[in-house]
Amino acid sequence: MRFFTQKDCPADALERERIAVLGYGNLGRSLALNLRDAGIPDLVIGNVADTYADQAKADGFRVLSIAEATHAADVVLVLLPDEVIPEVYAKDVAPHLAAGSVVVFASGYCLAYDLIAPPDGIDILMLAPRMGGSVIRERHQQGDGFHAFLSVEKDASGKAWRRLLGVAGAVGALRRGAFELDARSEAQLDLFIEQTLGAIVGFSIMTAFSIGVEGGLPPAALALEMYLSGEMETVWRGFREQGLERSAATHGMTAQFGGLMRTMQLFQAGLYDQFRQTFEEIRNGQFATQFQAEREAGYPSLAQVEAMGPQLAPLTEAEDEIRKHLTTRSSGT
Ligand code: NAI
Repeated sequence: MRFFTQKDCPADALERERIAVLGYGNLGRSLALNLRDAGIPDLVIGNVADTYADQAKADGFRVLSIAEATHAADVVLVLLPDEVIPEVYAKDVAPHLAAGSVVVFASGYCLAYDLIAPPDGIDILMLAPRMGGSVIRERHQQGDGFHAFLSVEKDASGKAWRRLLGVAGAVGALRRGAFELDARSEAQLDLFIEQTLGAIVGFSIMTAFSIGVEGGLPPAALALEMYLSGEMETVWRGFREQGLERSAATHGMTAQFGGLMRTMQLFQAGLYDQFRQTFEEIRNGQFATQFQAEREAGYPSLAQVEAMGPQLAPLTEAEDEIRKHLTTRSSGT
């Protein structure tokens, strides 16, 4: 994997480039503010008329419609929800792109599943951050950056890498360093980890909580043990700073023995096969097809997630009970 840092960012890469940020949500706001801090003189926000547009105006940006902003720019960052992009891109972006301009996506999703059709003569790039929008902005204000995956998916201008490194440098993605990874791999990686590791962490917390409470353990003690004490975060920090194997070796024998036994049980219970099946459904596009259908139907399954809220109420109450006694400090990401 090629790795890029600030020294790879050509100083004049974005000279005379007009930039449009389409979408002023989680990531859009952070990247737009970072671009402004980097001294980009000609920066507009493209947004539908909603509270996000109001926020952009309140932050001092010029806000145009998505089509107008696209038309007015040489570099267009598409920072809209992934499942929304295909429709908005076809209607309000693609027909308004100036010849020789460049489109930057923040995730590989739409490119990987052929949900957008790039017009001829346009550079298609990906700058996919490995960090949430608000932390990106927080870190930027502290002089720090975030990791990202970068890809040139189409180099029509012959200067696509120069432009991509220019944008990456300006938003702060080269301060900690960025790796090259194609959009298809990025999409598969992102979905696969959130649907395996992410899903299992959430499921484990909810299941351990209800079984623990059923078995007579105090709810607040469970919440403290699972995440409110911050002990579990130190385990992940150990993975990051020392490596999985080296940090696991620092855990006590009881934790190592119990972890080994239970991991073997999960393996035998078919978790490995389920993860493999998940990967296959992501790789062959089945998940993306389902997700686009979910959007078209008005997110009926996601409404069920909201309806689950009351079931989580005991856990929220347990958190509140502990929080009353805690003085929280920033995790120092
Ligand atoms: P978001 O959900 O915060 O986006 C909200 C924005 O989308 C607002 O400006 C809103 O006006 C606009 N929008 C929503 N529905 C719309 C519609 N139907 N038509 C027109 N505009 C609409 O999006 P988020 O989470 O910032 O994600 C943007 C991109 O960044 C995605 O590609 C995502 O994968 C990527 N990304 C996001 C990260 C994050 O921290 N949220 C981190 C890394 C990548």
